[in-house]
Amino acid sequence: MSTPSLSSAELPTYTRWPVTIVRGEGSTVWDDSGRSYLDLYGGHAVAATGHCHPEVVRAIREQAGDLLFYSNVVALPVRARAAEAIAAQAPAPLSKVFFVNSGTEANENAMRLARRATGRTDILSFDGGFHGRTADAISAAGLAKYREMGKPNVPGHRFVPFNDLAAAEAALDENVAAVLIEPIQSMAGVITAPASYIQGLRTLCDERGAKLIYDEVQTGFGRTGTFFYAGRHGVVPDLVALAKGIGSGFPMGAVLVSEEIAATVKPEDYGTTFGGGPLACAAAEATTRVILEEGLLGNVRAGSLRLKQGLAGLPGVREVRGEGFLLGVALDKPARPARAALLSRGFLVGGSDLPDVLRLLPPLVLTAEEIDRFLEAARGIL
Ligand SMILES: Cc1ncc(COP(=O)(O)O)c(C=O)c1O
Repeated sequence: MSTPSLSSAELPTYTRWPVTIVRGEGSTVWDDSGRSYLDLYGGHAVAATGHCHPEVVRAIREQAGDLLFYSNVVALPVRARAAEAIAAQAPAPLSKVFFVNSGTEANENAMRLARRATGRTDILSFDGGFHGRTADAISAAGLAKYREMGKPNVPGHRFVPFNDLAAAEAALDENVAAVLIEPIQSMAGVITAPASYIQGLRTLCDERGAKLIYDEVQTGFGRTGTFFYAGRHGVVPDLVALAKGIGSGFPMGAVLVSEEIAATVKPEDYGTTFGGGPLACAAAEATTRVILEEGLLGNVRAGSLRLKQGLAGLPGVREVRGEGFLLGVALDKPARPARAALLSRGFLVGGSDLPDVLRLLPPLVLTAEEIDRFLEAARGIL
């Protein structure tokens, strides 16, 4: 295994895994000694179409040769194409896209859009939730340690337990602009909102005049086997925050909104210099096309079943939960040594806020053969 390179010029913001990655292709990455690893962490849930998908790389290269950057003060054909490609995958009435640069920025803008549309101030979110690290998003963190890091917090954030409709009903008064939810709480250990709960939240929002925001930074762009989680169980939110897989690794975020929310926006209300830049849009357009043309949604559904069935039969596995390629594997022992052992055998997997839960967030292109290879290694280790 290679030694991790931490330059003395880098702030030590993350606990680094003991590996230095220099190259990627599909679901495989290579370290600086030439050793390969099967990436079941997907570069942090980002490499949607796999590492360096040739179509995505080609689109970025071609766009780089034409125009590296111009901001939102001009129209860009590639921005228009990317917005149309993404909106075409969204259930009605979600139909308009605002491009930003990251997941946290998508959530910040989603909350601001909801506040301005309703004239209300407060945001209701959930214990266990995670929405990013800028001021408003970190103030909506239901994992208290993040909220603490973001102090002083933005006022007007309220929290209720996940999957407790009565608590949401009690908290959702006339000051609440929006309910902000990860339909599958990822960092919290992969906890899925039941259909009846999410339907109940939609009804509550409609009755009380609040907007429903899905944080689909992880669930979006095919990760759960449908293009968006929005639309599942007959529930369509008013706003969706996107990032991670949207550009297959090119930094980007977006807010997808309903016609009704879009009608409240006028020029100069919202902005970002880099959001919607040509390279990011080329990457997003290519990512969307590849997901559809290569049938990756079906691959995720089939692969997920294979992973779930294989993992459920392994010793030491208590539960496998989540959907598609957003899976939590609850062990009967701490996850950290298992992750380290898998890494030493050439498999990258994630942890979560729960010490006994492994997280799998592989590229959507992960094959059956790769899954079987991982299951065999996991059997040996667990
Ligand atoms: C559900 C969710 N929302 C928001 C974010 C923040 O995204 P970013 O790191 O791009 O700001 C993350 C990042 O892990 C996330 O998992």
